[in-house]
Amino acid sequence: MAYPSEEKHTKAVLKRYEDIPNPRLREVMQAAVKHLHAFVSEVKPTGEEWFKAIQYLTAIGQKCDDKRQEFILLSDTLGVSMLVDDINNRRVPGATPSTVEGPFHIPDSPEFADGSDMANGAPGIPCFVTGKVTGLDGKPISGAVLDLWQTDGEGLYEEQRRTADPWMRGIYRTNPDGTYCVRTVAPISYSIPMDGPVGNFFTHTNMSHIRPAHIHFAISAPGHHYLVTHLFQKGDKYIDNDVVYGVKEPLIVDFKKMPAGSKAPGGEIMNEPFYVVSYDFVLERQAQAAAA
Ligand code: BEZ
Ligand code: FE
Repeated sequence: MAYPSEEKHTKAVLKRYEDIPNPRLREVMQAAVKHLHAFVSEVKPTGEEWFKAIQYLTAIGQKCDDKRQEFILLSDTLGVSMLVDDINNRRVPGATPSTVEGPFHIPDSPEFADGSDMANGAPGIPCFVTGKVTGLDGKPISGAVLDLWQTDGEGLYEEQRRTADPWMRGIYRTNPDGTYCVRTVAPISYSIPMDGPVGNFFTHTNMSHIRPAHIHFAISAPGHHYLVTHLFQKGDKYIDNDVVYGVKEPLIVDFKKMPAGSKAPGGEIMNEPFYVVSYDFVLERQAQAAAA
């Protein structure tokens, strides 16, 4: 067979990729070839530039370990994670929207009783997050599981603290009337990790590498859609240019500042200032989502 010319090259590769029995794998790989070839044809990299790209992806893989996931960070900062999230989590109006999970979720967090403190001495301003979990019909969902994770008041996650014990994460369950109450400390806006290849890329740009302050939630309840989302602090100065494009209007909430001496949810008189965040999560039923 004659070697194909540059113009015929993509077609020749696509033809060979027809020989993939699994139809989904074939579809995905042919699209990958098509778009990757179009990208290369447009950009026309030198051999040296292409090798740099390969070194960049290699460095991303080398930065990953069981706690650090630089590939997720790459996907997040390219805006691809949010695109995948949106495609897979189209919610009916009224349901709480999802947002990107990010690289810092650690499974099997410790369980906390309603109202108890998951911050466990971590630095930061005390913060109470309270509300309800309901269905679209407004009926409370009892026993819904809320899995939370966040930075402490210095902007650090467990992965960055490298603590022996769980740090700034916990699991709560709703009461029979659907209510929940979490005690924690307020998160602050923070930089994505800058000590790897993704962070290094940002040093060559004028783009923000900051996430506005937020608390992550993954909420599950039988018969309902699994919801991965955040609550963002209203007024945060990075709310309009989140580095991972995760902010959605319905997820921006007031962190109401209360003075020392005020009564906290649960009744305790606090001897220092604290925040109260009120938010009701609305879950879509699984059957409704399938029909939508
Ligand atoms: C986060 O929310 O923790 C996060 C998400 C994407 C990239 C980096 C951090
Ligand atoms: Fe986060």
